[in-house]
Amino acid sequence: MIASVPHPHPTPADARARLIANPGFGTVFTDHMIDIRYTEGKGWHDERLVARAPLTLDPAAAVLHYAQEIFEGMKAYRLADGGFGLFRPDANAARFNQSAQRMAMPALPEDLFVEAVETLVRADAAWFPPMDGGVLYLRPFMFASEAFLGVRPAREYRFMVIASAVGAYFKAGGGALSLWVSEHYTRAARGGTGAAKCGGNYAGSLIAQAEAIEKGHDQVVFLDAVENRWIEELGGMNIFFVFADGSLQTPPLGGTILPGITRDALMTLAHDAGMTVREAPYALDQWRADAHSGKLVECFACGTAAVVTPIGKVAAESGDFTIGAGALGQLTQKLRQQLVGIQHGVAPDPHNWLHRIR
Ligand code: PLP
Ligand code: COI
Repeated sequence: MIASVPHPHPTPADARARLIANPGFGTVFTDHMIDIRYTEGKGWHDERLVARAPLTLDPAAAVLHYAQEIFEGMKAYRLADGGFGLFRPDANAARFNQSAQRMAMPALPEDLFVEAVETLVRADAAWFPPMDGGVLYLRPFMFASEAFLGVRPAREYRFMVIASAVGAYFKAGGGALSLWVSEHYTRAARGGTGAAKCGGNYAGSLIAQAEAIEKGHDQVVFLDAVENRWIEELGGMNIFFVFADGSLQTPPLGGTILPGITRDALMTLAHDAGMTVREAPYALDQWRADAHSGKLVECFACGTAAVVTPIGKVAAESGDFTIGAGALGQLTQKLRQQLVGIQHGVAPDPHNWLHRIR
């Protein structure tokens, strides 16, 4: 049971309305947060919803030195009937524990993870941005809080959830994404932490993402670390390829890419629609050849933040190319509509992915 200690001075309604009118992504935060502690031998304890506030951490806290930290990214949606929903929160809870296991951190009971997220959404439901597509982006995370400089798994942790009022991740009307293929930096190697959602993966990817932005692109694409040839994923999203024969392909999971929940849902929806869906390696040179020959007709990025976003252009030191008409394609649009429909409770949900917050 999560104890509630509501904010003594929540943001006044007029100030809140100004903040959520055009929030962008990840800069406007709500009034509350979830804070739960773990101590070895005692387990998880002191489950609380409290006023959002800066943390006091010992400067020797293990997370600051050895980066024992994991997180999730989720959204709470406003449903057509005025209620609120989460999309497959059980899948986020399960992935969180897989990340915890890889980073030698304690498991968090999955029902406590979902209860924590629901409790925060209920407390801060007034923060939903008013525009179409405005949602609460939820960031559950866990870090090693023990003050100790020896190199071993910490014995104390904190699990927290914060919420941010957000609009679209990419600028509305920005059209299809332009990608930069990093032929120099890689993100993850076999046996590494690529499949875990740990902060360190993102720290290591920032220079490549910054290079993409500097060159005028939206996102970086990483290649595999062994042959520097096979497409893996983008800095913060998975990737799909749509072929002229109507089939769909995405790089296989193998420990080096994040097992995206959106990726999994889209494969299921495409499969339900009778499409051929392949999880198979795809090489950069093949990608370029197929784009040139017209065999490849669409490409899109997908993830919680990105939803489903078309990819129009790809740039690399080894040569640039355009995909299809360089704009939103038919199948990308259809899958996007179906997914967003389920998330907002307006499309049939045969797999019971929508989780209503009560
Ligand atoms: N890949 C990376 C590196 C990500 O950060 C994300 C975002 O969470 C994804 C893929 C997509 O995962 P999901 O669909 O579960 O949000
Ligand atoms: C998400 O889609 O939730 C992510 O975590 C990607 C990025 C914003 C870090």
